[in-house]
Amino acid sequence: MIGRPDSPLLPQVAVEGFDDAARQKPPIVSSVTIEHVRVEIPRDEHALVEFLCSDVWPFHGHRQLVAAEVHEMDFASPNVLSFWIIDAGQTIGLIRLLDLGDIGEGAPQFDLRIASRHRGCGYGKDAVRWIAVHLFPRYPQLHRIEANTRDDNAAMQAVLSQAGFTCEGRLRQSWRDDEGHWFDTMIYGILRSDWIRCRS
Ligand SMILES: CC(C)(COP(=O)(O)OP(=O)(O)OC[C@H]1O[C@@H](n2cnc3c(N)ncnc32)[C@H](O)[C@@H]1OP(=O)(O)O)[C@@H](O)C(=O)NCCC(=O)NCCS
Repeated sequence: MIGRPDSPLLPQVAVEGFDDAARQKPPIVSSVTIEHVRVEIPRDEHALVEFLCSDVWPFHGHRQLVAAEVHEMDFASPNVLSFWIIDAGQTIGLIRLLDLGDIGEGAPQFDLRIASRHRGCGYGKDAVRWIAVHLFPRYPQLHRIEANTRDDNAAMQAVLSQAGFTCEGRLRQSWRDDEGHWFDTMIYGILRSDWIRCRS
């Protein structure tokens, strides 16, 4: 399957924020105990700043966010819905569902961030599966969901493949990081029919 981390198609790169110790952790995640709690603004503004600014995000445009940037981000609007990933009362991560405005014509995307101390435990995989389970039944007109990731983000590509997404293409040198380095973007997608097939 394309995108598997052990695939000969993928470079075997060390992934920052996802070290060997994290990879050796047992899969402790049980989707039964995980809750997805809707982010509400202004109630959650402070918690969002704390969550996003106290960690590093090596595969995002800005690896280290500051409060002013978080205040500029859209978490709750007609186009965007966001959810905390909570397990046993702990904040594990954040999901932003994007481009919900024209769901019948377009394809929503998402921003998924697991706190670094919780990476490699299965939360990412669970989150991507939850996104499909949340969106497809809720929006009967939704035909596909898309995800873009940097070509060196092996963890995200593994998670997407395992959740039933297909790697559909590569945009060469289309993603520039804070230091001006260019990366390829990998485009993934899941159709409603893929999702139905995955479930059965
Ligand atoms: C990418 C991210 C969402 C993945 O979530 P996660 O909870 O860490 O990942 P999971 O534990 O669910 O699964 C990771 C899978 O990837 C594999 N994998 C992870 N990193 C790998 C690496 N460097 N090389 C190889 N495989 C890796 C794991 O082995 C596991 O697969 P397995 O179950 O078959 O063993 C998370 O690490 C994260 O938030 N990273 C920072 C933000 C980010 O990059 N978000 C995505 C932006 S597009």
